[in-house]
Amino acid sequence: MPPTLLFLPGDGIGPEIMAQLRRIIEWLGQHRGLTFDMVEDLIGGASIDVHGVPISDGTLAKAQAADAVMLGAVGGPKWDKVAYDNRPEAGLLKIRKELQLFANLRPAMVLDALVDASSLKPELVRGLDIMIVRELTGGVYFGEPRGIEDLGNGQRRGVNTQVYTTAEIQRVARIAFEFARVRGNRVCSVEKANVMESGKLWREDVTALHAVEYADVALSHMYADNCAMQLCRNPKQFDVIVTDNLFGDILSDEASMLTGSLGMLPSASLGPEKPTGKRAALYEPIHGSAPDIAGRGIANPIAAILSFAMALRYTFDQPDEAARIERAIEAVLNQGIRTADIMAEGCRQVSTSGMGDAVLAAL
Ligand code: IPM
Ligand code: MG
Repeated sequence: MPPTLLFLPGDGIGPEIMAQLRRIIEWLGQHRGLTFDMVEDLIGGASIDVHGVPISDGTLAKAQAADAVMLGAVGGPKWDKVAYDNRPEAGLLKIRKELQLFANLRPAMVLDALVDASSLKPELVRGLDIMIVRELTGGVYFGEPRGIEDLGNGQRRGVNTQVYTTAEIQRVARIAFEFARVRGNRVCSVEKANVMESGKLWREDVTALHAVEYADVALSHMYADNCAMQLCRNPKQFDVIVTDNLFGDILSDEASMLTGSLGMLPSASLGPEKPTGKRAALYEPIHGSAPDIAGRGIANPIAAILSFAMALRYTFDQPDEAARIERAIEAVLNQGIRTADIMAEGCRQVSTSGMGDAVLAAL
């Protein structure tokens, strides 16, 4: 039986970019004998419109059953007035939580062809290859108590809770150490141990795990504010960064911009091992739904396609096919073919489907 893929295109540019990814997957079936059983469903605003909730129980069940979930993007101004805990983003948070996708891998790589797209000087980013491992199912995103309470005197009080347990810290740190071993063998663990108890615990638990199981990996620690600064000052000092949910959200956006285009970067979210021996997995571009350009056929499908390359690597044990797709994308960029977001002088601008055509031609 072919492996199963659940497609959740979502909102905004999600459906446009996922349509191009579909073409790439079909190509693999036709030319490489690699077929997938693809099912499509709704998430985010698209699901609110049909089911009244940003992800339905039926969709969650399909996600649990699939070998991998391929997600586009969620959210948009159309759903701005939806109740807070029912907004499109809540669908994304729910699928992360339900599938226990605790480790979010966000690579930030600079391809030679795009070195000038970065806002940093080329020498600072040429050859950059960082992997941010962001904790994804804990911390302030999910901590209790939370809410907004009325203090009765015209004042209100907003509360969120940053909370981590040793088990949560060590399982994500373990993923970071494992990845470091097959990369540059360095992990930088990031928190605010100077002001937060949860950060102090984070540092102690990462240090303890390292001593017992990963002493061969070089471990350093950094405060999150310093890390934000170092990413701009000298990003190539990093190999793998492991950090909590909120710091990871912020630092990964920053790291993505070092590469010049949000439209290029994929991500993988991994959960516990299933009975099949595979981890629960969801792959998605790190860019959002970009409602301002949705429906105009100009979005960059490369992050979605590279997300699938990550799926080939981490879920489907097809590193050669993953590399084939990555090489095709590099070839397209080297030919000077660009979507609007990465357009540069002397290059040829193409549409979303034009980029799909170019990647297929390179394949
Ligand atoms: C991300 C996004 C999400 C997050 C939003 C859309 C809920 O910013 O995946 O980084 O904050 O995690
Ligand atoms: Mg984010």
